[in-house]
Amino acid sequence: MKNILVIGSGAMGAAFTIPCLDNNHKVTLCEPYNYGLVKKILSKKKFHPSLKLNLPKKLVIKKFSQEIFKKKWDLIAIAISSIGIDLIREKLQQLKSNCPILVLTKGLKYEKKSKRIITMSEQLNSGNRKLNLSVLKGPCLAKELAKKINTSVVIANKNVNTAKSIGKLISTKYYKIEYSNDVRGVEICSAIKNIYSMIIGAGEGLNTSSSIFRKSISEMVYLTKFFKGKEETVYGLAGLGDLYVSALGGRNSKMGEYLGKGFTFKKAKKKFMSKDTIEGAQLALEIAPYILKKINNKKISLMTDLLKAISKNKKLNIKW
Ligand SMILES: NC(=O)c1ccc[n+]([C@@H]2O[C@H](COP(=O)([O-])OP(=O)(O)OC[C@H]3O[C@@H](n4cnc5c(N)ncnc54)[C@H](O)[C@@H]3O)[C@@H](O)[C@H]2O)c1
Repeated sequence: MKNILVIGSGAMGAAFTIPCLDNNHKVTLCEPYNYGLVKKILSKKKFHPSLKLNLPKKLVIKKFSQEIFKKKWDLIAIAISSIGIDLIREKLQQLKSNCPILVLTKGLKYEKKSKRIITMSEQLNSGNRKLNLSVLKGPCLAKELAKKINTSVVIANKNVNTAKSIGKLISTKYYKIEYSNDVRGVEICSAIKNIYSMIIGAGEGLNTSSSIFRKSISEMVYLTKFFKGKEETVYGLAGLGDLYVSALGGRNSKMGEYLGKGFTFKKAKKKFMSKDTIEGAQLALEIAPYILKKINNKKISLMTDLLKAISKNKKLNIKW
């Protein structure tokens, strides 16, 4: 039995505790930001409002406090939104041990100082203290994992043996783990698929969407290689796998549908999705200035069209 800490009590953090508990570990779920959510879960017999089920009784749930890092952990998983990564980076500077940290968060950030796009693990590692980081990505709807529906994801670390030792702790019959040493590729793919699922959602019919799907893969290959990831990663769980699940359903493809119908992003957000976080749109706003300026737009015309539409709040005009 190991001690596992999961930071972020949203849908994914809570769902991730389920395979960990099934492997008989002692699991603590802590929330660094939305304290109201912790109160809500604890007051309703651990009923999680997004997963729509009661979390296991043996799961410990609490607010994040710096005291938490005084305890000895065998694994810390981070499952907060990309917007909160900087907050966690600061807190992790206080961590004394070299405990393995697994980053579930998907996203990219434009770092003003270095004028480059950085991944979530690079952002976490940009402090003084270098952390023992691995990343876990792939096609995983939190609600399905929480119901133990068969799911496969990939853990990446430059040292695959480290990734495998984490996989051993968390894999179950229904939560299968693949391994990769292409950390950059896995992180880039898992982020940009949110943008491509929006573009696929904008297709006027399944024929158009399929055609956009094929072109999206070519562009993902180009971008992944541009950011020094491996082409093969695009065809794996973090790329093609995750693109499939995001394009079939979810908030990004829904927003894409509205964009495809001629709404501007701001109008669609306000009218139909005011309470939803659209990760693909957040990412588009974050990376648009860099991508539109630094990358040959002809090589990534779908991405270019979408970034222009979101960042300039104009109607989407896909030259598919
Ligand atoms: N790796 C995987 O298998 C996998 C699967 C699904 C989702 N995800 C990723 O996990 C992350 C969380 O997804 P989710 O579905 O749980 O989202 P969610 O909206 O249900 O939960 C978001 C979490 O982030 C926290 N948060 C939000 N804003 C914050 C801020 N400003 N500062 C600090 N914390 C903040 C919330 O309090 C909550 O804990 C996303 O990046 C998502 O892409 C990963």
